Amino acid sequence: MSDIKPEDDVLRVVGGKPLSGQIKVRGAKNFVSKAMVAALLAPGTSVLKNVPEIRDVRVVSDLLRLHGVNVTFDGDRGIVTIDASHVDLADVADVDTLAGSSRIPILFSGPLLHRLGEAFIPSLGGCRIGDRPIDFHLETLRRLGATVNKEHADGIHITAPDGLHGAKIHLPYPSVGATEQTLLAAVLADGKTELSGAAIEPEIMDLICVLQKMGAIISVDVDRTIRIEGVEKLKGYEHTALTDRIEAASWASAALATRGDIFVKGATQPEMMTFLNVFRKIGGEFEVRDDGIRFWHPGGDLKPVAIETDVHPGFMTDWQQPLVVALTQANGLSIVHETVYENRFGFTKPLVQMGATIQLYRECLGSLPCRFQQRNFEHSAVIFGPTPLTGQDIDVPDLRGGFSHLIAALAASGPSTVHGISLIDRGYADFRGKLRALGAEIE
Ligand code: EPZ
Repeated sequence: MSDIKPEDDVLRVVGGKPLSGQIKVRGAKNFVSKAMVAALLAPGTSVLKNVPEIRDVRVVSDLLRLHGVNVTFDGDRGIVTIDASHVDLADVADVDTLAGSSRIPILFSGPLLHRLGEAFIPSLGGCRIGDRPIDFHLETLRRLGATVNKEHADGIHITAPDGLHGAKIHLPYPSVGATEQTLLAAVLADGKTELSGAAIEPEIMDLICVLQKMGAIISVDVDRTIRIEGVEKLKGYEHTALTDRIEAASWASAALATRGDIFVKGATQPEMMTFLNVFRKIGGEFEVRDDGIRFWHPGGDLKPVAIETDVHPGFMTDWQQPLVVALTQANGLSIVHETVYENRFGFTKPLVQMGATIQLYRECLGSLPCRFQQRNFEHSAVIFGPTPLTGQDIDVPDLRGGFSHLIAALAASGPSTVHGISLIDRGYADFRGKLRALGAEIE
């Protein structure tokens, strides 16, 4: 966003010091934004607590305001209050300017169709919001009775003048966003919706809790089928967001990579079980306490692992990037097979420049069925360690890759300059303050 000062976009890091101390993690970015959109469904006031001060929360707040909704954010206490008594159709150009490359606007579709009978989703240049990355979303909306018109040059116009109706929907892949799309669109649809092949991430379960508080009827079967019985109206909610398990795992990986000791206040065990198993296998120690989890490097050598990313309850794709940095310090060959995104290893190139030995493969180095088999994507990585890292000039590629680079710079000997650092503000609240609290030498 344009409000970033150039001096806030570069961080100088002097690495080589273990990170040690306590930091607090608030609610999950990937839940909070969806819960804020859910508030649009009710002509009343909703209150969301444990909200982190991250850029994505500001973006969704501003998107809601563009739709005539009243939003206030008490950042110190982490409380967002949303009054959606009044909803308007926003100007599509304004939505686009604000949302950037975010996919959140597509999730406004269901609530806007219920409140206004139409929604407009921006599309600049076509490819960014082309059929492929949101094909499941659009198919879901069509099945629920919406008409999707892609003829407009500046976006996708979606209408449902007679309202949405229940439907049988199957997702070809358990997409988080498409599952949320179905939930947000089907709760007020006429009749029953059956969604098979759904994603069941903890953030989705928390969204279902929010919708249930609002008056929805939703059940989840063991076979990933979600059943939604449409209701006539919903009311505002009050809810405390579940903790951000991606941020918690990022700090845990930072503790391992820098041979440090970090207490992550707010981290919870049930959502992190799969991560904790891997953390232990590598040789990391953790202690689950009532108010958080302490992660530390016990000294000696770390052990290599073979992991495959997957949908919940598998090993999250978003945990992979920070952990790879720690794996550069493990003694032997580690393998990471990425099965969720075809192209999520670009961040390893700067790590190699810093001294890591990482080889990428197009083959599936694992046993999970993978959509990228026999295709041209480097989606498996072999990491050989331990390799000392040395400081470099680094450009942040994306949110999680960027945080990984930061960890690498902190683990490396000598100074690094990390450019484009404000990207990390999208999902890591006050990470500069937290790094200082952990004893990092940053400027
Ligand atoms: C959410 O993205 C998260 N983002 C991602 O976190 C996370 O990595 C991802 O879920 C998986 O857990 C938010 O919640 C805002 P998907 P989402 O739909 O919903 C393909 C972060 O750093 N697909 O589950 O967009 C897609 O290309 C971010 O916090 C289609 O083909 O993810 C991908 O390969 C990054 N067509 C796979 O499905 C569709 O219509 C999973 O995507 C939709 C998805």
